[in-house]
Amino acid sequence: MINYRCPICGDVLTPVGKSLKCTKHCYDVAKEGYVNFLSSSDKHSITPGDNKDMVVSRRIIMESGYYLPLTNYITQNFDFKDKTVLDIGCGEGFIARNLSKFAREVFGIDISKEAVKLSAKSDKSSSFSVASMTHLPFFDHPFDFAVSAFAPYNAKETKRILKKDGTFIVAVPAEEHLFELKKRLYETPILNPKDETEIDGFRLLKRERIDGNFVTDGKGAVTLLKMTPYFYRTNKSAIEALTDIESISVNLSFSVSAFKTVD
Ligand SMILES: C[S@@+](CC[C@H](N)C(=O)[O-])C[C@H]1O[C@@H](n2cnc3c(N)ncnc32)[C@H](O)[C@@H]1O
Ligand SMILES: [Zn+2]
Repeated sequence: MINYRCPICGDVLTPVGKSLKCTKHCYDVAKEGYVNFLSSSDKHSITPGDNKDMVVSRRIIMESGYYLPLTNYITQNFDFKDKTVLDIGCGEGFIARNLSKFAREVFGIDISKEAVKLSAKSDKSSSFSVASMTHLPFFDHPFDFAVSAFAPYNAKETKRILKKDGTFIVAVPAEEHLFELKKRLYETPILNPKDETEIDGFRLLKRERIDGNFVTDGKGAVTLLKMTPYFYRTNKSAIEALTDIESISVNLSFSVSAFKTVD
C-alpha cells in the first residue's frame, strides 16, 4: 500500500480516524475522501488550477464518453494489472476512474480543489489529493506508472516518484485537435504544434496519434469550450453564434507518448 508523505517534515502519514497524521502534523480527510496538501508557497492564486465552471464542464464532456478513444488506447496498450499509478493533474478524475478498473492502486493529484473534490466524490477506488505537480506528496519510487493528460508536470519530481523501470504516459493535443471548432470561432485558426516532446531524464518508448470525432449541438460545443482556456480567449459574440448551431462535428486528436526513465 502506498502511503502519503508529509509535505512538511517528510515523515510517513498514516490514517487515524478521519485524519492523516505523522508524529508532528495532521491533515483532515474531507468528507468526499480527499486530502489537501497544498501549501501557500505552492499557490500562485487563492484558487489555483481549473475553476469550478471548467471542472464541471469537463465532467459533462468526459461522462458523454467523447474522450473514450484516449482512455481505451491507454488501457489497451499498457498492462496495469497489479500496478500502481499516479495521475498528475487528474482534473475531475476521468482517467483515474478508468484506470482504477485495471490497476492495483491509483492516486490522482491536482492543484484545483474543485477538481479533486469532484474526483473523490465519484471514485472511491482511487485516492485523491490537492497538491502541486512540483511537490508530490509521496516517497521516492512507489509508482509503476505516472500519467499526465493535458496537464503540467515536473520531470524531476515525476522521475522521483516513478520506479526505476516505471513508465510515464503523456497525452497532449495533436495538431488537428478541435480544429473544426476553432474554424467556427476564429478568422485565422491555428493548428497546435506537432508533438515533439522530449523529457529530461526520460527516453521515448513510443508515440501514437489517437483520433476521435463526435457530433453535438451548439450548447454541447460551448460546454466543450468551457473546459478549455479557449473559452476565456474567445469573444462573446463568437460564443453566442456557436450556441445557436443545431449540429456540429467536433474532431478530437491526441498525441500519446510513453517514456521510460534513464539513469
Ligand atoms: C486540461 S486539465 C486536464 C485534466 C485531466 N488530466 C483530464 O485529462 O481530464 C489540466 C489540469 O491540470 C491542473 N493543474 C494546473 N496546474 C497544476 C499544477 N501546478 N499542479 C497540479 N495540477 C495542475 C488543472 O487544475 C487541471 O485540472
Ligand atoms: Zn509532518
